[in-house]
Amino acid sequence: MEKKHIGFDLTILASEDELSIEESTLLKEAEKARRKAYAPYSNFFVGAAVLMENGEIVLGNNQENASYPSGLCAERVAVFQAGARFPNETIKAIAISASSKNYTVKIPAAPCGNCRQSIAEYEQRQNSPISILFRGEEGPVYKCGSIGDLLPLGFDNSYLGNS
Ligand code: THU
Repeated sequence: MEKKHIGFDLTILASEDELSIEESTLLKEAEKARRKAYAPYSNFFVGAAVLMENGEIVLGNNQENASYPSGLCAERVAVFQAGARFPNETIKAIAISASSKNYTVKIPAAPCGNCRQSIAEYEQRQNSPISILFRGEEGPVYKCGSIGDLLPLGFDNSYLGNS
């Protein structure tokens, strides 16, 4: 038997003051997008901002639905839009901001499993890491250098035998 440890370095920044200008701008865009989220059922509001290599920032926010599973998370609204608008452009980073009507979100809300999978598809497609920044309404910012860090042993197209 062999045991292998799989881990990653999570960077914890005490506040947004420790971000670079580029990162801080991206997070502010995610916050702006969050304020336009449509989340009347969960009252949990998420904004995502995708920074492309060409400098474009593509925004998304969660879009809920009376038929709950028909809604979509902010991150997927954003990356799918980025993929649709800039199919040949590399994604550098994604910032995610979360808030709630019911309490103050102080712990950064990490992207859900489905969003990790969707973002990982783009990372694999472009063959370069997508860094992820996430934060609640206040408090620390969490940062990881690659979506792969958040989805170890992920499923990707290498298993499909098409290449
Ligand atoms: N949500 C996101 O937008 N992103 C995530 O990664 C986690 C959850 C949304 C989905 C739903 O509209 C609300 O937050 C509560 O789950």
